[in-house]
Amino acid sequence: MIDWTINTILSWTESYFKDNLIDSPRLTAEMLLSHCLGIKRLDLYLQYDRPLQKNELSDFKAFIKRRLQNEPVAYITGEKGFFESDFHVTHHVLIPRPDTETIVEQALIVLNACQKNLKPKTVLDLGTGSGAIIVSLAKAFPDHLYFASDISLPALLIVKKNALKVAKDKICFFISTWFSSLTPKPIFDLIVSNPPYIPTMDIQNLQPEIKEFEPMLALDGGRDGLDCFRSILSQAYHYLVPGGTLLLEMGFDQKQGVENIFGQYPQYATIDFIKDLAGHNRVVLIKKIN
Ligand SMILES: C[S@@+](CC[C@H](N)C(=O)[O-])C[C@H]1O[C@@H](n2cnc3c(N)ncnc32)[C@H](O)[C@@H]1O
Repeated sequence: MIDWTINTILSWTESYFKDNLIDSPRLTAEMLLSHCLGIKRLDLYLQYDRPLQKNELSDFKAFIKRRLQNEPVAYITGEKGFFESDFHVTHHVLIPRPDTETIVEQALIVLNACQKNLKPKTVLDLGTGSGAIIVSLAKAFPDHLYFASDISLPALLIVKKNALKVAKDKICFFISTWFSSLTPKPIFDLIVSNPPYIPTMDIQNLQPEIKEFEPMLALDGGRDGLDCFRSILSQAYHYLVPGGTLLLEMGFDQKQGVENIFGQYPQYATIDFIKDLAGHNRVVLIKKIN
């Protein structure tokens, strides 16, 4: 019988993942093994000749099996890094994407401009999921007032946990179908959302990691992917202060569709599109009239 050490099991797993066409085989092996042993990735190299116990080996084998069945690493480890923080994730929430850093950066620009005005600003995140957006904002600017909602109760339990880790007591959470739990009053300076925006028919073409594991509620944007933009734009102006900002993440090819919806509401003054690092239109920034 082989005596597995950290070094030998990592090499074996890397080549097993490679043979089975798993993305980033070495990194995946390291992330799963460090999670399994409860140590940092760097420590794998500091303890490379440490032998593995029988129970550690069987736990690791179970992780390998789950990854081979296309389960994303973040759901296996229960954690995903996003914008300088680690977020707890389960199958009830979308795994935070690097794409979403664009909306966070844009929201930080809006809030930074508000810093000059002494009054704290009110910020609402619709469809908060793991809380990737709102927790990142509350961590950067703790003095504003933060609200976050989702249609999914299990998702709200996750974001509460994430908020406790980095932005203690800074965020008020509530369950809601977009604005349904709120009285229509113009109280928010900034409303942000990364709504589901994938056209229903395109979901079948997504990687198995996404379509078989991530919540459909977080992905399906209806026939043309724009259902949530129609809902949010038709109501957001009731809740924004005059001159307030609405920031929404969108698909790279949805600019025209979003502009058409915007054109139906004279309550909004301006529309701008912000590109992500790949040069795709990723965020729409809409200002309510003053
Ligand atoms: C694409 S995910 C975004 C999650 C998180 N904000 C992020 O950026 O990683 C969309 C979220 O919207 C929520 N959602 C979907 N339909 C909704 C609705 N009608 N009202 C409120 N939230 C909704 C989903 O439960 C999901 O958490």
